Amino acid sequence: MTQLAPVITIDGPTASGKGTVAHRVAQALGWGVLDSGALYRLTALAVLRSNISPKDGPSVVRAAQELDVVFHAEGILLGGREVSEDIRQEQVGNLASHIAPNPALRAALLARQRAFRVKPGLVADGRDMGTVVFTDAPLKIFLVADVQARAERRCKQLIEKGISANLADLLGDMRERDARDINRAVAPLVAAPDAHTVDSSNLTVEQTVQSILDLWSVVAGK
Ligand code: DC
Repeated sequence: MTQLAPVITIDGPTASGKGTVAHRVAQALGWGVLDSGALYRLTALAVLRSNISPKDGPSVVRAAQELDVVFHAEGILLGGREVSEDIRQEQVGNLASHIAPNPALRAALLARQRAFRVKPGLVADGRDMGTVVFTDAPLKIFLVADVQARAERRCKQLIEKGISANLADLLGDMRERDARDINRAVAPLVAAPDAHTVDSSNLTVEQTVQSILDLWSVVAGK
């Protein structure tokens, strides 16, 4: 039997730095990246751009099944249109979090996510990478940071991109989004029992990346 490619899962709340850290870890190892949140955001964007009501579960699931998406080095195409910036809007992230509890939607996105597992390896970031999608991953990280630090980071990121942002609003939205992601019945945001928790509140991106690479060296050396 051919051995499956190794996976490092990085789960955590919104704006914990998962995306940046996942890309840097993947770059250091020469591996691919799965930004699973992008699939939920793409579904949310497809819903927003059609006449589908977010409350119409079966139609939302169909939109996910029919996602015409291409991930390429510089961005993401949805139906042939570049959408990497559009899916980062707070409105899209919030809708993604609203539709994400639907088990049929999660099931519809499962095969797409697992298809990213190719050699030499994959760094997968999301909420349930270690608990549902890649339960056999040899290294699982639960990346946390306090909500104030995360809201400040997101505010800075949005302003740098020329998108208007208000810290108090972001803090409120983030608390609500955390509560929704943590309290949902299906695939809630929770650390896998075998995950290593890394708190990045007081770490730079480089320090966070290094701590994950150090953990990987131990696992890979076994
Ligand atoms: O990581 P993110 O902020 O891009 O994710 C947007 C939303 O998508 C998040 O609030 C919940 C949902 N999501 C999920 O349910 N499971 C994942 N693996 C990734 C994201």
